[in-house]
Amino acid sequence: MNQLIIYGSKYGSTKMYANELSKRTNIKAIDFKKVESLDKINTVIYFGGLYAGGVLGLSETIKKIDTYDDKKIIIITVGLSNPNAKENIDNIKDSIKKQVPEKVFNKCKIFNLRGSIDYGKLNMMHKIMMKALYNKTKKLPPEKQTSESKALIETYNKKVNFVDFDTLGKIIEII
Ligand SMILES: Cc1cc2nc3c(=O)[nH]c(=O)nc-3n(C[C@H](O)[C@H](O)[C@H](O)COP(=O)(O)O)c2cc1C
Repeated sequence: MNQLIIYGSKYGSTKMYANELSKRTNIKAIDFKKVESLDKINTVIYFGGLYAGGVLGLSETIKKIDTYDDKKIIIITVGLSNPNAKENIDNIKDSIKKQVPEKVFNKCKIFNLRGSIDYGKLNMMHKIMMKALYNKTKKLPPEKQTSESKALIETYNKKVNFVDFDTLGKIIEII
């Protein structure tokens, strides 16, 4: 069985999860930018950081799969919003649906994990994006606040780390 862990990470939390899973399962982990061919891989385990709803590197990686029929695909997102809140799970699913072909979406297994953020280390573009999002979110009336918007307001301009390797357990079980 040929398995591969692939990750798309900008600030390291997704990479940490991918490397920890690699350590626990003995499956090689590589950056999505270094993937050349997935022809000989049967199980693709994709970890991607969430950026404005999108899963970093996911669509680029899925495009490298020639035929989906014989492949097992596991997609794991890493984001700041609470991965146990139904509305967040639904939003992430909808976003994945837009990033991969229908055939892949119908057969893939999806998991959502929680990452980290250190506003002090964000690049200029990300600082500007988060500021704009924060200013917009802050103005929402309480009845329109979701758990995602509340999390953004609570963590804005801070350093927070929700990385929890125990949450990899459910993924290890299905591998
Ligand atoms: C510009 C920007 C956009 C983000 N968008 C989302 C998002 O849509 N949903 C979410 O849950 N987290 C979002 N986050 C938080 C990241 O997903 C979180 O910090 C994650 O741990 C980043 O992974 P990485 O450290 O591997 O890059 C965003 C962070 C930044 C800087």
